[in-house]
Amino acid sequence: MPQNTQQLAATAANTNQLLQQYRQYQDQALNLDMTRGKPCSEQLDLANPMLNILDSTDYMDASGIDCRNYGGLSGISEAKTLFSAYMEVTEQELFIGANTSLGLMHDIIARSMSHGCTDSAKPWNQLEKISFLCPAPGYDRHFSICEHFNIKMIPIDLLKNGDPDLDEIERLVSADSSIKGMWFVPKYGNPSGLSVSDAAVDRLAAMECAAPDFKIIWDNAYNVHHLTAQHSEIKNLLRSCEAAGNANRVFMIGSTSKISFAGAGIAVIGSSCQNIQWLESHTAVQTIGSDKINQLRHVRFFKDLSGIHAHMEKHAAILVPKFAAVQNVLSTNLAGLGIAQWSTPTGGYFVSLNVMDNCAAKIIAMAKDAGVILTEAGATFPYKNDPRDRNIRIAPTLPNLMQINLAMEVLCICIQLVTIEAQSTDK
Ligand SMILES: Cc1ncc(COP(=O)(O)O)c(C=O)c1O
Repeated sequence: MPQNTQQLAATAANTNQLLQQYRQYQDQALNLDMTRGKPCSEQLDLANPMLNILDSTDYMDASGIDCRNYGGLSGISEAKTLFSAYMEVTEQELFIGANTSLGLMHDIIARSMSHGCTDSAKPWNQLEKISFLCPAPGYDRHFSICEHFNIKMIPIDLLKNGDPDLDEIERLVSADSSIKGMWFVPKYGNPSGLSVSDAAVDRLAAMECAAPDFKIIWDNAYNVHHLTAQHSEIKNLLRSCEAAGNANRVFMIGSTSKISFAGAGIAVIGSSCQNIQWLESHTAVQTIGSDKINQLRHVRFFKDLSGIHAHMEKHAAILVPKFAAVQNVLSTNLAGLGIAQWSTPTGGYFVSLNVMDNCAAKIIAMAKDAGVILTEAGATFPYKNDPRDRNIRIAPTLPNLMQINLAMEVLCICIQLVTIEAQSTDK
């Protein structure tokens, strides 16, 4: 099982030393949480001026709508201008929702189940079986939505270049009309940190689907969350779908949760005009309108797309040292041992770490015993089942630098100890 036996043997000779270090950390009663991709308070502070940016006379939108009152289901006019630029769609192709993109994604599925979506012959819940393609490792909350609605999840390999396995996807969707859709985080993915290629975007847009109402939930949560000057740019899937004659195939999702305030931002959808009309007709039953005052705050604060980009540079200045610390501790302790590979993301919120097969759950449990909490083993796979038990998601945004360094040191010790043990039982 080890790829570099000599190096690992050298590590094995140090087992006692590693165990001693591990026990020392255990004695410190650490309590370090590396689980969820939450912004830290310094990041949130950046948007604090938004909290009192409106005074008691500033509540009319540009078209004269009183933002304190009901109405304006599709959003205020200046928010439409800002977010259509953000999503690279026209204002007619934009839907401005409430504070959470997860909620929007949940509602797309819920409404498709209860009523069917555009191009559906029947509501999905009247069909014998519904399946969704789930490129993995992926975002655990997407998978929870499928489980909640009893939608069968079909894992799809995420390739090393950031594309989902398109050969497999094309093969499956062309033959099986029960496959109604697919999740994907196309840019700086959760947890891979990888971005999709233009060629993959075009193939997803044009592929033959047995289900006429096949939908791609294109969760572009990390659209402007760059960590280097080399920004990753991805092709606009809506435009590719249109060009291929499949305009209704995609819902492109975005939110300011990790730009302004997590849980108090603005969530948006870019999609075909027909899909937007479908969304609005259902939303009109659910709500009289979203929080227009929050929309006004966001527009007053960011002003335009370049304002969002400038703001995200301040986020990057806070996050870059944290991601560098993760890379540094991993390289110092594990480089060349052949027992782990990890991503070096240029954006997003996560580092994806692959350890030796059948070791991730044990490593995560061992780190927990030393007070370092990592995302549950398997969480990045449908049904929490990582078939190789090897993926660990590291979320370095919330803890401070000292905590990250400590947590990563503990994790590296656990990786070595568990791998050495697995190697010895393999012999
Ligand atoms: C890929 C992805 N989508 C959506 C979300 C949640 O976004 P929101 O706060 O807008 O619901 C997250 C949060 O971690 C995420 O990683």
